[in-house]
Amino acid sequence: MTQTLTLQGHSSTTEVYLQGKLEEVGKLMPQGAQPIVITDRDVWAQFKDRMPADWPVYQVVPGEVSKSLRTASNLYRYLQEQRADRGVFLVGLGGGVVSDLTGFVAATYLRGVRFGLVPTTLLAQADAAIGGKSALNLYGFKNVVGAIYQPRWVLEDHSLLGTLSEAQVESGLAEIVKLAILEDPELYARLGEHADDYRLLTPSYIEPTIAWAVRTKMGYIEADEQDYDVRRRLNLGHTWGHAVEAVTGLPHGHAVAIGLVFAAELGEWLQLSQSGLAENIAATLVRLGLPTRSKALPWVLFEALQRDKKRQGDAIGFIVPLRIGEAKEQRVDLAKLKEFVQHVYAS
Ligand SMILES: NC(=O)c1ccc[n+]([C@@H]2O[C@H](COP(=O)([O-])OP(=O)(O)OC[C@H]3O[C@@H](n4cnc5c(N)ncnc54)[C@H](O)[C@@H]3O)[C@@H](O)[C@H]2O)c1
Repeated sequence: MTQTLTLQGHSSTTEVYLQGKLEEVGKLMPQGAQPIVITDRDVWAQFKDRMPADWPVYQVVPGEVSKSLRTASNLYRYLQEQRADRGVFLVGLGGGVVSDLTGFVAATYLRGVRFGLVPTTLLAQADAAIGGKSALNLYGFKNVVGAIYQPRWVLEDHSLLGTLSEAQVESGLAEIVKLAILEDPELYARLGEHADDYRLLTPSYIEPTIAWAVRTKMGYIEADEQDYDVRRRLNLGHTWGHAVEAVTGLPHGHAVAIGLVFAAELGEWLQLSQSGLAENIAATLVRLGLPTRSKALPWVLFEALQRDKKRQGDAIGFIVPLRIGEAKEQRVDLAKLKEFVQHVYAS
Protein backbone atom coordinates (compact mmCIF):
# COMPACT_ATOMS: atom_id res chain seq x y z
CA MET A 1 0.00 0.00 0.00
CA THR A 2 1.71 3.10 -1.20
CA GLN A 3 0.10 6.03 0.54
CA THR A 4 -1.73 6.34 3.84
CA LEU A 5 -3.68 9.38 4.97
CA THR A 6 -4.91 9.76 8.53
CA LEU A 7 -8.19 11.45 9.34
CA GLN A 8 -8.39 12.58 12.95
CA GLY A 9 -12.05 12.45 13.88
CA HIS A 10 -13.60 13.62 17.16
CA SER A 11 -13.44 10.22 18.83
CA SER A 12 -11.53 7.97 16.43
CA THR A 13 -8.93 7.87 13.71
CA THR A 14 -9.43 6.67 10.15
CA GLU A 15 -6.57 5.42 7.99
CA VAL A 16 -7.24 5.93 4.28
CA TYR A 17 -5.10 3.71 2.06
CA LEU A 18 -4.78 5.24 -1.38
CA GLN A 19 -3.69 2.87 -4.16
CA GLY A 20 -4.41 -0.11 -1.95
CA LYS A 21 -5.05 -3.67 -3.11
CA LEU A 22 -8.24 -5.55 -2.28
CA GLU A 23 -6.21 -8.74 -1.72
CA GLU A 24 -4.54 -7.04 1.25
CA VAL A 25 -7.78 -6.38 3.12
CA GLY A 26 -7.02 -9.22 5.57
CA LYS A 27 -3.94 -7.35 6.80
CA LEU A 28 -6.18 -4.50 7.96
CA MET A 29 -8.14 -6.69 10.35
CA PRO A 30 -7.25 -5.98 13.99
CA GLN A 31 -5.91 -8.93 16.00
CA GLY A 32 -8.76 -11.13 17.27
CA ALA A 33 -11.53 -9.22 15.44
CA GLN A 34 -14.45 -11.15 13.93
CA PRO A 35 -14.78 -9.98 10.30
CA ILE A 36 -18.18 -9.89 8.58
CA VAL A 37 -18.52 -8.56 5.04
CA ILE A 38 -21.51 -6.45 3.96
CA THR A 39 -21.82 -6.07 0.22
CA ASP A 40 -24.36 -6.06 -2.59
CA ARG A 41 -25.03 -9.08 -4.79
CA ASP A 42 -23.49 -7.64 -7.96
CA VAL A 43 -20.40 -6.37 -6.25
CA TRP A 44 -19.92 -9.71 -4.53
CA ALA A 45 -20.26 -11.61 -7.81
CA GLN A 46 -17.56 -9.35 -9.24
CA PHE A 47 -15.02 -9.44 -6.43
CA LYS A 48 -15.61 -12.47 -4.19
CA ASP A 49 -12.55 -14.28 -5.57
CA ARG A 50 -10.34 -11.46 -4.35
CA MET A 51 -11.68 -11.55 -0.78
CA PRO A 52 -10.64 -13.86 2.09
CA ALA A 53 -12.58 -17.11 1.54
CA ASP A 54 -13.43 -17.71 5.21
CA TRP A 55 -15.13 -14.38 6.08
CA PRO A 56 -18.92 -14.55 6.48
CA VAL A 57 -20.75 -12.40 3.93
CA TYR A 58 -24.12 -10.65 4.01
CA GLN A 59 -25.35 -9.62 0.55
CA VAL A 60 -28.02 -7.00 -0.03
CA VAL A 61 -30.00 -6.17 -3.14
CA PRO A 62 -28.01 -3.70 -5.30
CA GLY A 63 -29.23 -0.12 -5.36
CA GLU A 64 -30.86 2.56 -3.28
CA VAL A 65 -33.62 0.19 -2.13
CA SER A 66 -31.16 -1.31 0.36
CA LYS A 67 -30.67 1.95 2.24
CA SER A 68 -33.67 1.09 4.39
CA LEU A 69 -34.52 0.29 8.00
CA ARG A 70 -35.83 -3.07 6.77
CA THR A 71 -32.42 -4.00 5.35
CA ALA A 72 -30.71 -2.74 8.50
CA SER A 73 -33.08 -4.78 10.64
CA ASN A 74 -32.40 -7.96 8.61
CA LEU A 75 -28.72 -7.25 9.01
CA TYR A 76 -28.98 -6.87 12.81
CA ARG A 77 -30.69 -10.27 12.87
CA TYR A 78 -27.93 -11.79 10.75
CA LEU A 79 -25.29 -10.34 13.09
CA GLN A 80 -27.07 -11.90 16.06
CA GLU A 81 -27.25 -15.25 14.25
CA GLN A 82 -23.50 -14.98 13.69
CA ARG A 83 -23.15 -14.32 17.44
CA ALA A 84 -21.45 -11.05 16.63
CA ASP A 85 -20.37 -9.31 19.82
CA ARG A 86 -18.45 -6.06 20.19
CA GLY A 87 -15.42 -7.82 18.75
CA VAL A 88 -17.08 -7.89 15.34
CA PHE A 89 -15.50 -5.86 12.55
CA LEU A 90 -17.83 -5.02 9.64
CA VAL A 91 -16.29 -4.64 6.20
CA GLY A 92 -18.47 -2.72 3.72
CA LEU A 93 -17.51 -3.71 0.17
CA GLY A 94 -19.46 -1.73 -2.42
CA GLY A 95 -20.68 1.67 -3.55
CA GLY A 96 -22.21 4.48 -1.53
CA VAL A 97 -25.29 2.42 -0.70
CA VAL A 98 -23.19 -0.26 0.98
CA SER A 99 -20.97 2.28 2.76
CA ASP A 100 -23.98 4.22 4.09
CA LEU A 101 -25.70 1.01 5.24
CA THR A 102 -22.56 -0.48 6.79
CA GLY A 103 -21.77 2.75 8.61
CA PHE A 104 -25.29 3.01 9.97
CA VAL A 105 -25.38 -0.58 11.20
CA ALA A 106 -21.87 -0.27 12.68
CA ALA A 107 -22.91 2.92 14.50
CA THR A 108 -26.00 1.36 16.01
CA TYR A 109 -25.40 -2.40 16.52
CA LEU A 110 -24.50 -2.93 20.19
CA ARG A 111 -24.20 0.88 20.43
CA GLY A 112 -21.31 0.92 18.02
CA VAL A 113 -18.87 -1.62 16.58
CA ARG A 114 -15.77 -1.20 14.42
CA PHE A 115 -15.95 -1.12 10.64
CA GLY A 116 -13.86 -0.56 7.51
CA LEU A 117 -14.83 0.30 3.95
CA VAL A 118 -13.69 -0.88 0.55
CA PRO A 119 -15.43 1.53 -1.86
CA THR A 120 -16.01 0.02 -5.31
CA THR A 121 -17.58 2.94 -7.21
CA LEU A 122 -15.94 6.18 -8.25
CA LEU A 123 -18.57 8.02 -6.23
CA ALA A 124 -17.75 6.06 -3.09
CA GLN A 125 -13.96 6.27 -3.54
CA ALA A 126 -14.00 10.03 -4.16
CA ASP A 127 -16.75 10.89 -1.70
CA ALA A 128 -19.17 8.57 0.09
CA ALA A 129 -16.63 6.37 1.93
CA ILE A 130 -14.86 9.40 3.42
CA GLY A 131 -16.17 11.32 6.40
CA GLY A 132 -18.26 8.90 8.43
CA LYS A 133 -21.70 10.12 7.33
CA SER A 134 -24.09 7.21 7.07
CA ALA A 135 -27.78 7.28 6.36
CA LEU A 136 -30.90 5.36 5.43
CA ASN A 137 -33.91 6.57 3.49
CA LEU A 138 -37.36 6.71 5.06
CA TYR A 139 -40.66 6.50 3.15
CA GLY A 140 -38.92 7.48 -0.09
CA PHE A 141 -37.09 10.46 1.40
CA LYS A 142 -33.33 10.55 1.27
CA ASN A 143 -31.00 10.12 4.23
CA VAL A 144 -33.60 10.84 6.91
CA VAL A 145 -32.05 8.64 9.61
CA GLY A 146 -28.33 8.41 10.04
CA ALA A 147 -25.24 8.91 12.10
CA ILE A 148 -21.78 10.39 11.87
CA TYR A 149 -19.51 7.53 12.85
CA GLN A 150 -16.04 7.05 11.39
CA PRO A 151 -14.66 3.83 9.87
CA ARG A 152 -11.32 2.55 11.18
CA TRP A 153 -9.97 2.42 7.65
CA VAL A 154 -10.89 2.95 4.03
CA LEU A 155 -9.12 0.83 1.41
CA GLU A 156 -9.08 2.52 -2.00
CA ASP A 157 -8.24 0.15 -4.86
CA HIS A 158 -8.60 1.87 -8.25
CA SER A 159 -8.55 -1.46 -10.08
CA LEU A 160 -12.08 -2.08 -8.77
CA LEU A 161 -13.43 0.73 -10.94
CA GLY A 162 -12.72 -1.08 -14.23
CA THR A 163 -16.10 -2.86 -14.21
CA LEU A 164 -18.26 0.24 -13.65
CA SER A 165 -20.84 1.16 -16.27
CA GLU A 166 -20.60 4.53 -18.03
CA ALA A 167 -23.50 5.81 -15.95
CA GLN A 168 -21.78 4.82 -12.70
CA VAL A 169 -18.59 6.62 -13.76
CA GLU A 170 -20.53 9.75 -14.71
CA SER A 171 -22.36 9.65 -11.40
CA GLY A 172 -19.04 9.71 -9.53
CA LEU A 173 -17.73 12.53 -11.71
CA ALA A 174 -20.65 14.72 -10.62
CA GLU A 175 -19.47 14.67 -6.99
CA ILE A 176 -15.94 15.52 -8.17
CA VAL A 177 -17.30 18.48 -10.18
CA LYS A 178 -19.13 19.62 -7.05
CA LEU A 179 -15.93 19.60 -5.02
CA ALA A 180 -14.02 21.36 -7.80
CA ILE A 181 -16.69 24.09 -7.93
CA LEU A 182 -16.23 24.58 -4.20
CA GLU A 183 -12.47 24.39 -4.07
CA ASP A 184 -10.43 24.29 -7.24
CA PRO A 185 -10.98 26.35 -10.44
CA GLU A 186 -8.00 24.66 -12.13
CA LEU A 187 -9.34 21.17 -11.61
CA TYR A 188 -12.78 22.37 -12.63
CA ALA A 189 -11.36 23.58 -15.96
CA ARG A 190 -9.44 20.32 -16.45
CA LEU A 191 -12.59 18.26 -15.91
CA GLY A 192 -14.25 20.09 -18.78
CA GLU A 193 -11.22 20.12 -21.07
CA HIS A 194 -10.33 16.46 -20.56
CA ALA A 195 -13.83 15.11 -20.08
CA ASP A 196 -13.15 12.05 -22.25
CA ASP A 197 -10.12 11.06 -20.19
CA TYR A 198 -12.20 11.33 -17.03
CA ARG A 199 -15.08 9.36 -18.53
CA LEU A 200 -12.66 6.64 -19.62
CA LEU A 201 -11.01 6.64 -16.19
CA THR A 202 -7.58 7.29 -17.72
CA PRO A 203 -5.31 6.61 -14.72
CA SER A 204 -3.14 9.74 -15.10
CA TYR A 205 -6.31 11.86 -14.78
CA ILE A 206 -8.57 9.94 -12.44
CA GLU A 207 -6.09 8.64 -9.86
CA PRO A 208 -4.65 12.00 -8.76
CA THR A 209 -8.16 13.45 -8.86
CA ILE A 210 -9.55 10.78 -6.52
CA ALA A 211 -6.61 11.40 -4.15
CA TRP A 212 -7.31 15.15 -4.32
CA ALA A 213 -11.01 14.57 -3.60
CA VAL A 214 -10.20 12.37 -0.61
CA ARG A 215 -7.73 14.90 0.83
CA THR A 216 -10.04 17.83 0.20
CA LYS A 217 -13.01 16.12 1.83
CA MET A 218 -10.83 15.10 4.78
CA GLY A 219 -10.01 18.78 5.26
CA TYR A 220 -13.71 19.58 5.58
CA ILE A 221 -14.25 16.73 8.05
CA GLU A 222 -11.33 17.73 10.25
CA ALA A 223 -12.64 21.32 10.31
CA ASP A 224 -16.27 20.39 11.02
CA GLU A 225 -16.88 16.67 11.54
CA GLN A 226 -20.38 17.15 12.94
CA ASP A 227 -21.66 19.17 9.96
CA TYR A 228 -22.54 22.40 11.73
CA ASP A 229 -20.46 24.77 9.65
CA VAL A 230 -18.13 24.45 6.62
CA ARG A 231 -18.93 20.79 5.99
CA ARG A 232 -22.44 21.89 5.05
CA ARG A 233 -20.99 23.36 1.86
CA LEU A 234 -20.51 19.80 0.63
CA ASN A 235 -24.30 19.80 0.28
CA LEU A 236 -23.88 21.92 -2.85
CA GLY A 237 -26.24 20.47 -5.46
CA HIS A 238 -27.76 18.02 -2.96
CA THR A 239 -30.83 19.93 -1.83
CA TRP A 240 -32.60 19.99 -5.18
CA GLY A 241 -30.57 16.88 -6.13
CA HIS A 242 -32.08 14.78 -3.33
CA ALA A 243 -35.58 15.83 -4.40
CA VAL A 244 -34.76 14.81 -8.00
CA GLU A 245 -33.25 11.50 -6.83
CA ALA A 246 -36.23 10.69 -4.60
CA VAL A 247 -38.80 11.51 -7.29
CA THR A 248 -37.07 10.12 -10.39
CA GLY A 249 -34.78 7.37 -9.10
CA LEU A 250 -31.90 8.79 -11.16
CA PRO A 251 -28.41 7.73 -9.98
CA HIS A 252 -27.19 9.91 -7.13
CA GLY A 253 -24.57 11.78 -9.14
CA HIS A 254 -26.95 12.49 -12.03
CA ALA A 255 -29.41 14.01 -9.58
CA VAL A 256 -26.60 16.04 -7.99
CA ALA A 257 -25.59 17.34 -11.44
CA ILE A 258 -29.14 18.65 -11.91
CA GLY A 259 -28.96 20.10 -8.40
CA LEU A 260 -25.68 21.90 -9.16
CA VAL A 261 -27.21 23.71 -12.12
CA PHE A 262 -30.32 24.49 -10.07
CA ALA A 263 -28.22 26.00 -7.26
CA ALA A 264 -26.26 28.16 -9.71
CA GLU A 265 -29.45 29.33 -11.47
CA LEU A 266 -30.97 30.14 -8.10
CA GLY A 267 -27.82 32.05 -7.14
CA GLU A 268 -27.97 34.08 -10.34
CA TRP A 269 -31.69 34.75 -9.83
CA LEU A 270 -30.97 35.97 -6.29
CA GLN A 271 -28.16 38.12 -7.76
CA LEU A 272 -25.57 36.41 -5.60
CA SER A 273 -23.73 34.44 -8.26
CA GLN A 274 -21.58 35.52 -11.16
CA SER A 275 -23.65 35.94 -14.27
CA GLY A 276 -23.31 32.97 -16.65
CA LEU A 277 -22.21 30.58 -13.89
CA ALA A 278 -25.11 28.16 -14.36
CA GLU A 279 -24.47 27.95 -18.10
CA ASN A 280 -20.78 27.33 -17.50
CA ILE A 281 -21.48 24.53 -15.00
CA ALA A 282 -24.12 22.99 -17.27
CA ALA A 283 -21.64 22.92 -20.19
CA THR A 284 -19.03 21.09 -18.08
CA LEU A 285 -21.58 18.57 -16.84
CA VAL A 286 -22.83 17.89 -20.37
CA ARG A 287 -19.25 17.17 -21.51
CA LEU A 288 -19.04 14.63 -18.70
CA GLY A 289 -22.21 12.93 -19.88
CA LEU A 290 -24.38 14.30 -17.09
CA PRO A 291 -27.91 15.74 -17.19
CA THR A 292 -28.64 19.33 -16.21
CA ARG A 293 -32.45 19.35 -15.93
CA SER A 294 -34.95 16.84 -14.62
CA LYS A 295 -37.88 15.72 -16.74
CA ALA A 296 -40.04 15.43 -13.62
CA LEU A 297 -42.70 18.03 -13.01
CA PRO A 298 -41.11 20.93 -11.09
CA TRP A 299 -43.94 21.18 -8.56
CA VAL A 300 -43.61 17.46 -7.76
CA LEU A 301 -39.93 18.10 -7.10
CA PHE A 302 -40.83 21.15 -5.03
CA GLU A 303 -43.07 18.97 -2.83
CA ALA A 304 -40.14 16.61 -2.23
CA LEU A 305 -37.82 19.56 -1.60
CA GLN A 306 -39.95 20.67 1.33
CA ARG A 307 -39.07 17.44 3.13
CA ASP A 308 -35.36 18.23 2.94
CA LYS A 309 -33.59 17.84 6.27
CA LYS A 310 -31.95 21.24 5.78
CA ARG A 311 -35.35 22.87 6.01
CA GLN A 312 -35.73 25.13 9.02
CA GLY A 313 -39.29 26.38 9.42
CA ASP A 314 -40.27 28.25 6.26
CA ALA A 315 -36.80 28.37 4.75
CA ILE A 316 -34.11 26.07 3.43
CA GLY A 317 -30.38 26.59 3.84
CA PHE A 318 -29.20 26.37 0.22
CA ILE A 319 -25.55 26.16 -0.71
CA VAL A 320 -25.16 28.60 -3.56
CA PRO A 321 -22.05 28.75 -5.77
CA LEU A 322 -20.94 32.37 -6.15
CA ARG A 323 -18.26 31.64 -8.76
CA ILE A 324 -16.01 28.68 -9.45
CA GLY A 325 -14.00 28.30 -6.24
CA GLU A 326 -16.46 30.00 -3.89
CA ALA A 327 -19.85 29.16 -2.37
CA LYS A 328 -21.95 30.25 0.58
CA GLU A 329 -24.97 29.03 2.51
CA GLN A 330 -28.03 31.15 1.87
CA ARG A 331 -31.35 30.82 3.68
CA VAL A 332 -34.07 30.95 1.06
CA ASP A 333 -37.74 31.24 2.00
CA LEU A 334 -39.90 28.45 0.63
CA ALA A 335 -42.23 31.05 -0.91
CA LYS A 336 -39.30 32.56 -2.82
CA LEU A 337 -38.11 29.12 -3.88
CA LYS A 338 -41.58 28.32 -5.14
CA GLU A 339 -41.56 31.50 -7.18
CA PHE A 340 -38.17 30.58 -8.63
CA VAL A 341 -39.28 27.05 -9.48
CA GLN A 342 -42.60 28.14 -11.02
CA HIS A 343 -41.48 31.16 -13.00
CA VAL A 344 -37.82 30.65 -13.74
CA TYR A 345 -36.72 27.06 -13.43
CA ALA A 346 -39.77 25.63 -15.15
CA SER A 347 -39.53 28.04 -18.10
N1 LIG B 1 -22.18 9.20 3.14
C1 LIG B 1 -21.78 10.10 2.27
O1 LIG B 1 -20.99 10.99 2.57
C2 LIG B 1 -22.31 10.03 0.86
C3 LIG B 1 -21.81 10.90 -0.11
C4 LIG B 1 -22.29 10.80 -1.40
C5 LIG B 1 -23.26 9.85 -1.71
N2 LIG B 1 -23.74 9.03 -0.73
C6 LIG B 1 -24.74 8.01 -1.04
O2 LIG B 1 -24.15 7.09 -1.93
C7 LIG B 1 -25.19 6.44 -2.67
C8 LIG B 1 -24.78 6.34 -4.12
O3 LIG B 1 -23.59 5.60 -4.20
P1 LIG B 1 -23.18 4.84 -5.54
O4 LIG B 1 -23.36 5.72 -6.70
O5 LIG B 1 -21.86 4.23 -5.28
O6 LIG B 1 -24.36 3.77 -5.67
P2 LIG B 1 -24.47 2.19 -5.38
O7 LIG B 1 -23.78 1.82 -4.15
O8 LIG B 1 -25.91 1.88 -5.52
O9 LIG B 1 -23.70 1.58 -6.62
C9 LIG B 1 -24.22 1.79 -7.92
C10 LIG B 1 -24.30 0.47 -8.66
O10 LIG B 1 -22.99 0.09 -9.02
C11 LIG B 1 -22.78 -1.30 -8.75
N3 LIG B 1 -21.35 -1.43 -8.50
C12 LIG B 1 -20.69 -1.05 -7.40
N4 LIG B 1 -19.37 -1.23 -7.58
C13 LIG B 1 -19.21 -1.77 -8.80
C14 LIG B 1 -18.08 -2.16 -9.57
N5 LIG B 1 -16.83 -1.99 -9.12
N6 LIG B 1 -18.30 -2.66 -10.81
C15 LIG B 1 -19.55 -2.79 -11.31
N7 LIG B 1 -20.65 -2.42 -10.64
C16 LIG B 1 -20.48 -1.90 -9.40
C17 LIG B 1 -23.68 -1.59 -7.59
O11 LIG B 1 -24.00 -2.97 -7.55
C18 LIG B 1 -24.89 -0.72 -7.89
O12 LIG B 1 -25.78 -1.39 -8.72
C19 LIG B 1 -26.45 7.26 -2.47
O13 LIG B 1 -27.32 6.57 -1.63
C20 LIG B 1 -25.94 8.52 -1.78
O14 LIG B 1 -26.91 9.09 -0.94
C21 LIG B 1 -23.28 9.09 0.53
